[in-house]
Amino acid sequence: MSLWGGRFQAGSSAMFRTVNDSLPFDQVLAVQDITGSIAWSRAIAKAGVLSTDEQQQLESALNELLEKAKAGELDFASSPEEDIHSFVEAALIEKLGDVARKLHTGRSRNDQVATDLRLWCRDHVEMLRQDLVAVLTSLVKAADANLDVIMPGYTHLQRAQPVRFAHWALAYVEMLKRDLSRLDDATARFNKSPLGSGALAGTTYPIDRAALATDLGFSDICYNSLDAVSDRDHVLELLFIASTSMMHLSRMAEDLIFFNSGEAGFIQLGDQVTSGSSLMPQKKNPDALELMRGKCGRVFGALQGLLVTMKGLPLAYNKDMQEDKEGLFDAMEQWHICLCIACEVIDSIQLDKARCEKAAREGYANATELADYLVGKGIPFRTAHDITGQVVLAAIAQKKAIEELSLVELKTFATEIEEDVYAVLQLEYLVDKRNIAGGTGINPVSDALANAKQMLADL
Ligand code: ARG
Repeated sequence: MSLWGGRFQAGSSAMFRTVNDSLPFDQVLAVQDITGSIAWSRAIAKAGVLSTDEQQQLESALNELLEKAKAGELDFASSPEEDIHSFVEAALIEKLGDVARKLHTGRSRNDQVATDLRLWCRDHVEMLRQDLVAVLTSLVKAADANLDVIMPGYTHLQRAQPVRFAHWALAYVEMLKRDLSRLDDATARFNKSPLGSGALAGTTYPIDRAALATDLGFSDICYNSLDAVSDRDHVLELLFIASTSMMHLSRMAEDLIFFNSGEAGFIQLGDQVTSGSSLMPQKKNPDALELMRGKCGRVFGALQGLLVTMKGLPLAYNKDMQEDKEGLFDAMEQWHICLCIACEVIDSIQLDKARCEKAAREGYANATELADYLVGKGIPFRTAHDITGQVVLAAIAQKKAIEELSLVELKTFATEIEEDVYAVLQLEYLVDKRNIAGGTGINPVSDALANAKQMLADL
């Protein structure tokens, strides 16, 4: 039976049910809906709507339902109910009869769904925080285990300057740390209780909204009933955070796909996160990474979709807003899956140190060093840059590295060049010379690693 049948003479059409019913997807809010109902029964009992006995009957029946919901034992598939709110109420009425018909006093599905969704967001933020911490831990472990590996750093996907592999891994640590802090910021903003806002205008019953908020673990109440029932900023924020984090994962995936390619060969991915080809027996494809990259589409799409849905909606609740859920549920699920597989991928990485360093030595990644060396000999940087460019051109013509050119030959470009230039052009030397905070030298990278470990220990 629908919750609103009294005013209607004809039933809903089948197609109306198809477009309108949300139980097929909002059933995931069962735990939150029941939790909210328990708190609401306490609040209306305090307001004099229920006797102590009635409230206790409701609470114990709701607790039974809660256990079933947690165990996945609620039968949604054969239910005729429209949404999770009517499902829970119907189950309660079936169990308790008229007492259960009192539960919806002073409440609307509008403040109820707003509350359920905030509780759901809070629970999921906790799970995703843990997922992010797990990836951070894997990255820190990989950085720690490979502190001495130097590989090319790229700009424009051209070998630019050598960097430590650990520096690369710690760059993603910075990104995921920001994702983590965004989740914390968003939670502080959305962890407020809409309950007691009614359909849109508040309720006539003397509900202690602050106590109700505390009962549900909210830090405060929403202060305007119109806004409380029609605000979905938190859904948008979570979708933005998921999108940004997926973008980070996608860039990491892209880097690793390239590092794993036959052309680069810097890393090997584990068998457990790669797949073979049905035709080409030699293939080992980085599917997990490609899906981390590919799943960005649907997560970004959910953000864009809800922005468009919310745009121009008049206050207060409109059914359009029911469209907030499927995108959110799917995006959070995909983000969760991608964070979990990211851990497995990172843990499976085997570095080929020799290949990384060979590549770092090739491609004239030490050219900046020669220019800086000339600056040290009193040549203005712009001139030093030009001279070095000519040296690189000559080296390319001879298919040699800069350090493979003889001193006599180097001197033809600048008489200031001495024997000491060869030490400067050494890979470890030039990497560790980047001894500035945030740089790729061994000291700043070791500091960054220690800070990351401390940050994880402090969580
Ligand atoms: N299923 C609805 C949603 O998810 C619940 C709120 C319905 N409110 C209403 N007045 N029809 O948005």
